[in-house]
This record gives sequence, C-alpha cells and structure tokens, in this order.
Amino acid sequence: MGQTRAVITGIQGFAPEDLLTNQDLEKMVDTTDEWIITRTGIKERHILKGEGLGTSDIASPAVKGLLEKTGTHPDEIDMVICATVTPDYVFPATANVVSDKCGIKNAFSFDMNAACSGFIYSLVTASKFIESGSHKKIIVIGADKMSAITDYTKRDTCVLFGDGGAALLLEPSEEGYGIQDAILKTDGAGMAHLHQKAGGSVKPASHETIDAREHYIYQEGQAVFKFAVSKMADVADDIMKKNNLKAEDIAWLVPHQANMRIIDATTRRMGINKEQVMINISKYGNTTNGTIPICLWEWEDQLKKGDNIVLAAFGGGFTWGAVYLKWGYNSTKN
Ligand code: ACO
Repeated sequence: MGQTRAVITGIQGFAPEDLLTNQDLEKMVDTTDEWIITRTGIKERHILKGEGLGTSDIASPAVKGLLEKTGTHPDEIDMVICATVTPDYVFPATANVVSDKCGIKNAFSFDMNAACSGFIYSLVTASKFIESGSHKKIIVIGADKMSAITDYTKRDTCVLFGDGGAALLLEPSEEGYGIQDAILKTDGAGMAHLHQKAGGSVKPASHETIDAREHYIYQEGQAVFKFAVSKMADVADDIMKKNNLKAEDIAWLVPHQANMRIIDATTRRMGINKEQVMINISKYGNTTNGTIPICLWEWEDQLKKGDNIVLAAFGGGFTWGAVYLKWGYNSTKN
C-alpha cells in the first residue's frame, strides 16, 4: 500500500442565471466592450440576484449536486471548508450555513479567507487531514458573491468581478493519485493595494463608512497587476522545478481567472501550449474563490486519470501559490 494522498473524486459548480454583459456595463459606467476585452479578456459575468441571497446560495446547489453525482450521503461528510471573501455573515461561517442547507450533520466546518488564493489554501489544508488519516470525506468549496462588494459606479473594478462557485469531494487514495505538492505564500504588506476598507473591527459599519462607499473592493489595479504577473508565473515555475516537471509532462494548467494578460504571462513562463490552459474568464469574470474549481468542473469531462495538473492563484493579502496534483478518475463521458 502506497502513501495516503488526498484525491479529488467529484466536482460540481454553480453559476447564477442572470448575466451582466460588457454592453450592460457600457450603460452603467464610462467604459467600452473593446476596453474591457482588451485589458481583461472578460465579456460577461454571472450575477446572483434576489433579496436575501448570499454566497451560501451559490455553494449549496453546488454541494447538493456534488453529493448526488458522487452518490454520497450527507452523513458521510466529516469536514466542510468554504473559501470565500463574501461570507453570508461576519459569523457564523458560511460553511456552517451550507452544511445546514445540505443536511450535513457529522462534519466540522469553517471558512477560509485568503482572497483569490482561498480555494487552493483550503484544498491543501483539507489534504493534510486526509493524509493524516483523521478524515475520509471532505468537501472543499470555493464560492463568492462578488457583486455584494463591487462598486458599480467604479469602472476600474466593476468590470472585473462576477458571482459563482464550485464544490469538490476529497478522499484518500493509496494509488499515487491526488495532491502531490503545494507552495503557498503570503505577504501581508500587499494589503495596502487591495482590501475592503470598512466592515471589519478596525472600521465597523457606520453612516460615514457607507457614505464614503468603503464597503466595496478597494484596488490599485496596476500595483496588483504587477505583483500578480510576476508571482503567479514564479510560483507555477517553482512547483514545476521542485517536482522535475517539464512542460510536456503537464496536461493542464488551471490558473486563477483575474485577467487574461496575467494568465498569458504564466502560460509563457511555464512553456506550455495555450490549449493546455483552462480559460473561461470571458464567461465568468473574476469569481475570486470560484475561478479554479469552476474551471475543473467545466473541464471535468476532458480530464483523464493520471493527468498532471497545476493549479496557480494569487489574490488580495497578498496571497499566492500553486498546487501540483494527479487527477484521479476518468469522467463517465470519456
Ligand atoms: N473602461 C475604460 N477605461 C478604464 C476602465 C474601464 N473599465 N478602467 C480604468 N480605465 C482607464 C483608467 O482610468 C486609466 O485612464 P487614464 O490613463 O486616463 O488615467 C486607463 O484606463 C488605464 O488604467 P490602468 O489602471 O493603467 O489600466 P490597466 O491596464 O492597469 O488595467 C486593470 C486595469 C484591468 C484593473 C488591471 O490593472 C488589472 O487587471 N489589475 C489586476 C486586478 C486583479 O487581478 N485583481 C485580482 C485580485 S482580486 C482579489 O483578490 C479579491
């Protein structure tokens, strides 16, 4: 029997029905379809509309679909991690709300906040519980309702973000499949360039914070862009070198979808072909914790047992990292 690794055994996504297109945004702020496509690669985003709906309303349908398609009873789940920067509430954790909505009663659940890197942070955290043998079936969710913290009067940020998410099931494997290695990094000094000014304990919500529109994403786009281009490419390259992977060994790169130009830079640095890169930014925009699992869900039918896959992300914090995994199953459609 080989070493116990954590392998993905199923994945299910959810994107809300309503679309916000570049043409819609042209009517809301001073922008053009051409500017947005050239600078970001985004054409449309999914938006969760409706009173009283939050990130758990994106995550719960994904989790319910995941349980159904993997034939898993909710009682079998022993841990749920939800990566999100847009929790339903400051507390309790959205993972708890999702567990309740999905009938999961035997798990301990918590949220992970690492901005756009939260999904890979969660995946790696969950993998350690599987590798130790203490937990057998863990659900990892990456989901965000970015429309809740996007200022639709600010053209430099409102064109970037969308709502969506996906959930995956992680189980033990002794056959060599699953998560092989990871590099995760943080630089807290990056906070200055990307954060939400109010709503935390430093600046609780008040009339003043609302009047100053401080409950939305604050981003210095160029500073974030420069950081992201170098760090995401560096970390993808580092994980290849650390694991003696050549470009031809990699079946798929799954990059965080924030900006097409950042994805292109990472692809070039790894020396892989564009056909090996999962790219759906034009349809979803940046769904923060949703981008990487939504890609895996959309490409699931094309993935083969044994495929070498590199996940790469960066985000507010600053946070960044890469995960190297071997895919563990053939889709029934393969
Ligand atoms: N439409 C038209 N013009 C615009 C728009 C818009 N939507 N937004 C900005 N502009 C203008 C600016 O005002 C500026 O005009 P000026 O030259 O007259 O001052 C001009 O376009 C150039 O602006 P830049 O900010 O230099 O444009 P840039 O090429 O850097 O693109 C962008 C901006 C797309 C935001 C880019 O910087 C970027 O992608 N940054 C990274 C964002 C990111 O990846 N964030 C991820 C983290 S999110 C998280 O962790 C939650």
